[in-house]
Amino acid sequence: MTKTYFLTTPIYYVNDVPHVGHAYTTIAADTLARWKRMRGEKVLFLTGTDEHGAKIAKAAETAGVTPQAWTDKVVESFRELWKVLNITHDDFIRTTEDRHEKVVRAIFKKLMDSGDIYKGAYEDWYCVPCESFWSTTQLVDKKCPDCGRPVEKLQEESYFFKLSAYQDRLLVHYDQNPGFLQPAHRAPEIRSFVKGGLRDLSVSRSKVKWGVPLEPFAPGHTVYVWFDALINYVSALGFDPATGAFQKPDVWPADVHLVGKEIFRFHTVIWPAMLMALGVPLPKKVFAHGWWTVEGEKMSKSTGNVVDPHQVAAEFGVDALRYFLLREVPFGSDGDYSRKALLGRYNAELANSLGNLLNRVLNLIEKNCAGEIPAAPPSSDLLDAAALKEWTRSVDEGYDRLAFTEVLQTIQELTSRGNQYVNEKEPWKLVKTDAPAAARCLYEVVRLLKLAAVALHPVMPTVTVEIWKQLGESGTPSDAVARIFDQGDLSFSPGQKVAKGSPLFPRKDVSPVV
Ligand code: MSP
Repeated sequence: MTKTYFLTTPIYYVNDVPHVGHAYTTIAADTLARWKRMRGEKVLFLTGTDEHGAKIAKAAETAGVTPQAWTDKVVESFRELWKVLNITHDDFIRTTEDRHEKVVRAIFKKLMDSGDIYKGAYEDWYCVPCESFWSTTQLVDKKCPDCGRPVEKLQEESYFFKLSAYQDRLLVHYDQNPGFLQPAHRAPEIRSFVKGGLRDLSVSRSKVKWGVPLEPFAPGHTVYVWFDALINYVSALGFDPATGAFQKPDVWPADVHLVGKEIFRFHTVIWPAMLMALGVPLPKKVFAHGWWTVEGEKMSKSTGNVVDPHQVAAEFGVDALRYFLLREVPFGSDGDYSRKALLGRYNAELANSLGNLLNRVLNLIEKNCAGEIPAAPPSSDLLDAAALKEWTRSVDEGYDRLAFTEVLQTIQELTSRGNQYVNEKEPWKLVKTDAPAAARCLYEVVRLLKLAAVALHPVMPTVTVEIWKQLGESGTPSDAVARIFDQGDLSFSPGQKVAKGSPLFPRKDVSPVV
């Protein structure tokens, strides 16, 4: 059996409804999942929600409902948003599900039995919103180094995971698997953190009631929310710690865990150490993307600048939002969200470049060729066989590297080349003086559009199907990817008719919304 390509997003906290930051990771994962499926791979794309811990209990308390009622409600806003954004996850895991909790308990017990988890006492600075303990030296101005909020001293009896015992093995793993810590520029920080010495990790809480209970083997304790959450990646596959087997075979190890940079360390230090303790292979890659600010500021409820993906999608369309997020900022770097930037990209690249190219060429074909795509010339001067091969190779390889911005730039260059070519050839004049030359020009451009539609399909799954229809193709761009990418066949059926529709990306007014 061939291995299923397994990719994951973080499981999101349900203390509040999702915003554009959560949408970002999920859209990136969805794009990759779609591309892998298009390329013929079996895919398992997992997302979900992280529902335990003091932070969520507090949100429920403030709302005057039980934590379970609260999570049941908020989880729906995640499911709903993923539906709106066209997310094609294959599974959605909630940490309050029995299938998850029972694996968490079994893992805890197994690690207690093996001596990897032991009982001790814990005292340190605790940041409730981040669910993190910090040592005095880690604090910044006596506040949480992650979020800058006040911390409180917390002491409790706790079970500890022997993280320190895995320090050397982790370093060896990083050295032997250079693809594990991605992007590579984030690797040194993790290495030096581990080299600096790992402390054992407190993995149970006696003060936090809203968590996976550890009765009967560690009565009075619940599982630390991060230890609980990381396990989702294997509980969703029906992992059985007793045998090391998975109900869903041929899926583990994960091909990539996509995470935001702030939780890279949890995924590259704690999680692999847990897996080592369990004797389970490690994920092949953990990829940390950067953070979005909004008009230069950290997104936060108190600033009132939280970007609601529903609103953006309603104004610009889901596909334009997906495009913008992946196009604007290299995946792995930080970026700034602004309406102005979105409007700029939308008008320049979607309305004026891609949309305009499609529109003008289909217009000319309808007017001058009775709507029929002209016959192929013997060779192409815009994109010959070698150039097509190189182009498809770079797109394939770009998606593989999660270099979404590069892929989208490559596609953008193609459509602007198409527009430039039309401007130079002036087919609307040529039709009167040299009909074969006009036909050739139009053919060259629809061919580029067909290629662009296929390569863009994972990012803009709806609009590209519309382009496909307008080009007179049957099925969806997915159906053609192997022919184009593997066989270099970008031809049309003889006499294929185009079917121009309304503009896909109507130009937007640049005046600000008040
Ligand atoms: N529950 C943990 C993750 C557990 S995974 C085993 C968590 N949840 S979260 O709700 O806070 O989501 C964090 C993730 O949301 C980030 O890692 C990132 O993927 C995404 N983002 C949240 N805000 C973001 C930005 N402002 N910018 C980019 N991504 C952001 O941490």
